[in-house]
Amino acid sequence: MISNSKTSTIFTILCSLLVSVALTSVHAASLRTAKRATTCNGSSQLCDRLYSNVTFAGAHNSYAIVHSGTTLASNQNASITSQLNAGIRMLQSQAHKSSNSSVTGAGIDLCHTECSLFQGGTIEYWLSQVKSWVDANPTEVVTLLIVNSDTLPASQYAQAFQSTGLASKMYTPSSGVLTKQQWPTLGSMVDSGKTVVGFLTSGTDTSTVPYLLDEFSNIWETPYDQTSVPFNCSIDRIGSNVKSTSQNLMYLSNQFRDLSLFGGDQITTPDVANIGSTNSEATTLSSSDTCASEHGSYPNFILTDYSTVPDYDFPRAVAQMNGVSYTAPAQSSNSNGLSSGSSRTTSSFSSSIALSFIALSSALVYFIL
Ligand SMILES: *[C@@H]1O[C@H](CO)[C@@H](O)[C@H](O)[C@H]1NC(C)=O
Ligand SMILES: *[C@@H]1O[C@H](CO)[C@@H](O)[C@H](O)[C@H]1NC(C)=O
Ligand SMILES: *[C@@H]1O[C@H](CO)[C@@H](O)[C@H](O)[C@H]1NC(C)=O
Ligand SMILES: *[C@@H]1O[C@H](CO)[C@@H](O)[C@H](O)[C@H]1NC(C)=O
Ligand SMILES: *[C@@H]1O[C@H](CO)[C@@H](O)[C@H](O)[C@H]1NC(C)=O
Repeated sequence: MISNSKTSTIFTILCSLLVSVALTSVHAASLRTAKRATTCNGSSQLCDRLYSNVTFAGAHNSYAIVHSGTTLASNQNASITSQLNAGIRMLQSQAHKSSNSSVTGAGIDLCHTECSLFQGGTIEYWLSQVKSWVDANPTEVVTLLIVNSDTLPASQYAQAFQSTGLASKMYTPSSGVLTKQQWPTLGSMVDSGKTVVGFLTSGTDTSTVPYLLDEFSNIWETPYDQTSVPFNCSIDRIGSNVKSTSQNLMYLSNQFRDLSLFGGDQITTPDVANIGSTNSEATTLSSSDTCASEHGSYPNFILTDYSTVPDYDFPRAVAQMNGVSYTAPAQSSNSNGLSSGSSRTTSSFSSSIALSFIALSSALVYFIL
């Protein structure tokens, strides 16, 4: 038999349990609301900005990394991790069908023009470095732009995005073609955990691989292989489906300066001797100001060679365009990350070897983009 007083004690205990359960869930709900991103790419000011209203610093041929000195076919001398640590947020690469018959994985290598000229490792090697970095930096939005040199199908790329785990981080819009107004804010991308945006120059099929978007339906480009500064900002490559509406699209400004090897514009190489002035804050800002005056807004993406040279001027200039402050990586990670971790630039030619190679094969015309 339970007495009345015992019943009321049990009732009181049950009531307080219910109240505390209710309070806990209210508390949990408020925590969930508060979880909304407050920092985006290191700045609270960027969370409310649309992805399409931000300028992203980019690395041209981000995988074409040389350990020391420079070569005719290398474009960077900081590791992928160091590029990202320095504020590079678009990694561009050139993908080729692998000629390695024993290769495992998707069978795609990152090479410059020809895999015999510069072998930058497998696409999985590149994607897994990006995956590690975005996992460690969940409030940063990173864009991958892949030049599909051999027009491989999107499904082949998807194999590598799946096996490296990066597929789970990919921003997936409901449509494969987005106007500037249709892009989400950086904050909402961070909240959803989908912080990587992927573009292919051709071969997309958004019905089967919805996160690999067609570049030229979403982004137009200025001319590449320019040999003087400030850079020309006219519309060069754009999808025929969106040609009449260029002002509604994001755009990419190619700001890597080339040197013509034999007088023509067929064989070019990065103009390394002038890299200091090409990547300076002054040149980056003046080229981008020209772009803004011609097209109404700053470029969305800017590609450079040796993007962290000199002294992080380029990412610093990009931060100015976004109206945010720039913090250079700490001295310890300033070593360009080439001493730690194995770089897979397996066959980077020395300048002289590459020069003789090019001279010997002068019958062939290489476009070193
Ligand atoms: C990267 O290349 C630039 C241009 O040649 C050079 O000034 C810089 O010292 C290089 N950095 C490293 C770590 O090799
Ligand atoms: C992101 O942060 C990095 C590092 O501070 C900076 O270099 C870069 O310009 C920022 N990107 C954007 C889009 O603001
Ligand atoms: C070919 O692929 C195999 C397996 O991934 C790898 O061990 C080997 O180093 C590759 N060879 C070249 C020349 O890249
Ligand atoms: C940029 O290049 C385009 C196409 O070649 C040309 O028509 C235009 O005059 C150039 N603009 C400047 C400012 O040189
Ligand atoms: C973002 O919007 C501001 C204000 O309209 C504009 O000045 C800036 O150029 C825009 N940036 C981009 C990359 O669209």
